[in-house]
Amino acid sequence: MKKKLIIIGIESSCDETAVSIIKNRYVLSNIIIHQEIHKKYGGVVPELASRLHDKNLPIAVRKAIHTAKINQNEIDAVSFTLGPGLIGSLLVGTSFAKSLSMGLGKPLLTVNHIQAHILTHFIKNANINNNYPKFPFLSLVISGGHTQIIKVNDFFQMKILGSTLDDSVGEVLDKIAIKLGFYYPGGPMIEFFSKNGNCKKFGFSKPYVKKLNFSFSGFKNHVLQFIKKKSKDNPCFIKENLSDLCASIQKIVAEILLEKVQKATINTDIFRIVLAGGVSSNNEIRKTFISFAEKNKKWEIFIPKNQYTTDNGAMVAITGLLKYKKKLFDSIHVTPYSKFKIF
Ligand code: KG4
Ligand code: ZN
Repeated sequence: MKKKLIIIGIESSCDETAVSIIKNRYVLSNIIIHQEIHKKYGGVVPELASRLHDKNLPIAVRKAIHTAKINQNEIDAVSFTLGPGLIGSLLVGTSFAKSLSMGLGKPLLTVNHIQAHILTHFIKNANINNNYPKFPFLSLVISGGHTQIIKVNDFFQMKILGSTLDDSVGEVLDKIAIKLGFYYPGGPMIEFFSKNGNCKKFGFSKPYVKKLNFSFSGFKNHVLQFIKKKSKDNPCFIKENLSDLCASIQKIVAEILLEKVQKATINTDIFRIVLAGGVSSNNEIRKTFISFAEKNKKWEIFIPKNQYTTDNGAMVAITGLLKYKKKLFDSIHVTPYSKFKIF
C-alpha cells in the first residue's frame, strides 16, 4: 500500500504563529496563536512579532503534534514559509524549521506565502464532495501584504498578471479602520459594523488604473480626508454614520476587485476564479463574486474555507506536500526573503 505522507507546515511571516499537520491532504491539526499585542499599536510591530514567534513556535508545534495524535517520528518532512513577509519573523521560522528538520532527520521544504494562500484550495475536507479548481485558473490574492491577480497554470507554475502599485487592499482597510476607531486588524471590524449599513450612502470614487494592476492609496486618502472633513464639521460624524461608512467602503472595494478580475477573464479567456488571502473571508466580497458568477454562466468561482483564508499552517503544509510529491526538496542553507520573489 502507498504510504500516507505526513507533513508539518510552519507559518511565521507576519503576526500569526501557525503550525499544522496534514496527512495525505487532510488536515489533522491547524494551530494558530494570534499575537494580540499588536492591537494596541494599530499595526504589526516587527520586533515584537519576531520575539513572539520565538516564544510561540515550540508551543504551537507541540500542540499541533498532540492534536494530530501522531508521533513526531511519523512526520515525513518539514515545510515552512521562506517569504515574502517580515524578515525578522521569517528568520525565526526558518531557524526553527531547519532545527526541526535536522532533529527529526527529515527533508526541508520551503514555501512561498502567496503560493500557499492559493494552494489551500487543494486541501481535502472530510465528508464533503471536494471540488478542486482545474488548471489553468485565475487567482485573486487579497491580503494584508498583497493584492494580485495570478494566472495559475499548475501547482508551481504561476504568473503574476497584475499587482497593486501601492497599498494592498487589507492594508487600506486596516488603516481606514483605525481612523474609524477600531483595533488592528480592522478588516473584520469593518465587515462586522457594515451589517446594518446602507452601502449606497457614501459614493467614494474608484481609482482608474491601467492594465490589470490595482492602486488603493488614492482611494484610502480620499476616504480618510472625507472622514476628517466631516468630523471637523460634526465631531459625532463617525459615530452617527459608522455602519453606512463601513458598508459603503466595503462595497466599493468589492466592486474594484470584481471589475479588475472581469477584465482579467476577458484578457486571458480564463473564467475559473479562485479567491485567496485574508481579505477573501469578507462576506461582501464573496457575495459580490458569487452573484456575478451566478449571472455569468462562463464563470466558476472557488471560495476558500474560512479557516484557511487568513494566515495558517495548513496552507504551508499542503504546499509542502505538493512539493514533496514532486521531490522539490530544499537545502539547509536557504535564507528567507522579505520582498516578493517570482515563483
Ligand atoms: O492573509 P492574511 O492573514 O495576512 C497577510 O498575508 O497579509 O491577511 C490579513 C488581512 C488583514 O488586512 C485583515 O484586516 C484582512 O486580511 N481581513 C479582512 C477580513 N478578515 C481578515 N478584511 C476584510 N474582511 C474580513 N472579514
Ligand atoms: Zn497571508
